[in-house]
This record gives sequence, structure tokens and C-alpha cells, in this order.
Amino acid sequence: MAEIIIGTGAAVPDYVLDNDGVAEMVETDDAWIRERTGILQRHIAKEETADSLAEEAACRAMADAGIAPERIDLIVVATTTARVRMPCVACRVQEKIGAKQAVCFDLNAACTGFVLAYQTATAYLKAGIYRTALVIGSDCMSQVIDWGDRSTCILFGDGAGAAVLQRHPGLDYLPVAGADGGKGEVLSCQALYERQSFCKESGKSGFLHMDGQAVFKFAVRKVPEAILEVLELNGLTIEDIDWFVVHQANRRIIESVARHLGVSLERFPVNLQEYGNTSAASIPILLDEMKHSGQLKKGQRLVIAGFGAGLTWGASILDYEH
Ligand code: COA
Repeated sequence: MAEIIIGTGAAVPDYVLDNDGVAEMVETDDAWIRERTGILQRHIAKEETADSLAEEAACRAMADAGIAPERIDLIVVATTTARVRMPCVACRVQEKIGAKQAVCFDLNAACTGFVLAYQTATAYLKAGIYRTALVIGSDCMSQVIDWGDRSTCILFGDGAGAAVLQRHPGLDYLPVAGADGGKGEVLSCQALYERQSFCKESGKSGFLHMDGQAVFKFAVRKVPEAILEVLELNGLTIEDIDWFVVHQANRRIIESVARHLGVSLERFPVNLQEYGNTSAASIPILLDEMKHSGQLKKGQRLVIAGFGAGLTWGASILDYEH
């Protein structure tokens, strides 16, 4: 048994902050941000939250899938920026869409979150425990960004993406994932209660801290490794893959991954110019765009690959059959 995506959805905040807008807050400029990251703008939540964006993306994915909410057995939400600690975002989504039968939980694996949520859901489907799952990545990174720190505030944006998965007869793929907890400090963020207590000033704990170069080096080494590993594990080669859907963090990271693999950049869809790094949401937002623009076609095979805080990484192969 395999699993297929039968519906996708995405939601981003209305407010758009372009690079000139960021340059009004910190000493930077549009040319620097474009050249070093490829990002032109990002959507920033004013009224929206990671919870409300997850709900909106879920509703769209359900409408796209065209199935009754009672048929959803499992909802997994990947997020690190939920508005409340409990109940989990997945329970909020359950209530919103009326998926009364669903088992619900959230998963924290930062920017690798969607890939690990996808792998978790598919493990349940493959085991025959559940038949239909809703997997969501949703983050409002703007809430944990120090808007006085130019090395991080230029990178991130807010959004959510969702996919409805179903068990399906067909090829079964094994996933690849890993973590290096010893490197946790290169990308970290203290819990919100500490931020409220201690973090009135820019640069204090409670905001995201990052060693940009260390993360960059990790990503350009680990992502190609994970992609080659998942291909080998499943007896496939680079030529068997139509699209490499990689976490949207920095255009230079994606270009380097393509170069390492010897694959044309055209097979690496990119939308970070519009959204920035939306953490757990970047891959499902991109999948949704590819689907609705007609780029993704029935019978095509994809690799999804994520990396992020932890440090964590993961890669999966999927056939697009819907
Ligand atoms: N605008 C202008 N100058 C900036 C700047 C900004 N927004 N941010 C940093 N600089 C300056 C630095 O102060 C430094 O100046 P100096 O040489 O006088 O000291 C110079 O630009 C180079 O800084 P550096 O950190 O070496 O830049 P970089 O090429 O590594 O780019 C990142 C910085 C953050 C864009 C890059 O490291 C990156 O994208 N890393 C990966 C981050 C990531 O993806 N995180 C999420 C993973 S899920």
C-alpha cells in the first residue's frame, strides 16, 4: 500500500512586507536581501495566527479533496509557533472542519516539521491503522523574530499549507530522516513565557537566534545527502524524479543542492521570493501552488526534503496520482 495526496490548500496573511519595508526597520537594503537570499517580500500576520492559518489551509485542502470531514482519521499539525500551548492546533482544526472521528496532535520539528508530519501520517496509513489523514504545516515566525536583528528578520514569513493523504494501492516508499541534537544552539528560540518575562529588549532570549553560516553549511551538505539516501533506499535515481520540492529557506541553498546533485534548477520549484522562509509551511504551500498552477501533473514523482532547527532533516518520495 502507498499513500497519495488527494487535496491541498494554503493560507497566508494579507499583509505583505517587502524588502524596502524591512529596510525601514533595520540597516539593510533590497539588493542585499535579494542577492543573499532570493527573497523579495514576505506575508506577515497582523490579525492571523498559526492556528487560524492552519484552519484556513485545512478548509481549502478539504474542499480540494472533496471528501466528507467525518472521513478524516488523523490530523497532524507541524508548528513551533502555536498561539496557545494547549490544546494543540490539530484539535482546533478538527473542530473547525468537523472531523469528529480524527485523532489529533501537533509535532515540533521546526522547518523539517511538514516532512516529519508527512512521514508520521504515512506510517499510520501504511500500517493500516488509518485510511485518511490531514497533514498541515503552519507557522507565524514573525512572532518569534527580533525585528531589530537584520541577520534573521529578513528571512522569515508567515503561512500555512495542508495536504489530505489517503491509502492507495501502488508503490510504497521508505523515508529518510535524522537529527543532530548536539547542534541545537545554531538555530534556537526560547519558550514564549521566557520571552514575556525577560525579553523586552532586542537581542535577548525569547527570540530566534541563528548562526546563519553554520545553518547554511549544514543545509547544503545534509539536503543532497538525504535526497541521495532516500533515492538509494528505494532503488531509484535522480532521473526517476520529476520535482525536488525542498524547504524554501534561501535561494542560494537550493541552487547549491541542485548543483551538488547535478540536476537542473528547473526541477527545483522556488516560491521563497514571495513568502520568505515560512518554516513548516514552506513545502505544503509550494505543493499547493504547483498543483493549482498545473505544474504538478498526474503520474509525476516528487522528492520532498526539509531541514531546520534541532538540527533536523528528512526526505520522502511520493507519486502524484490525483
Ligand atoms: N543586510 C545587510 N548586511 C547584512 C545583513 C543584512 N540583512 N545581514 C548581515 N549583514 C552583513 C554582516 O554583518 C556581514 O558584515 P561584515 O562582513 O561587515 O561583518 C556581512 O553582511 C556578511 O554576513 P554573513 O553572515 O557572512 O552573510 P551571509 O552571506 O552568510 O548571509 C544569511 C547571511 C543569514 C542570509 C545566510 O547565512 C543564510 O541564509 N543562512 C541560512 C539561514 C537559514 O536558512 N535559516 C533557516 C533554516 S531553516
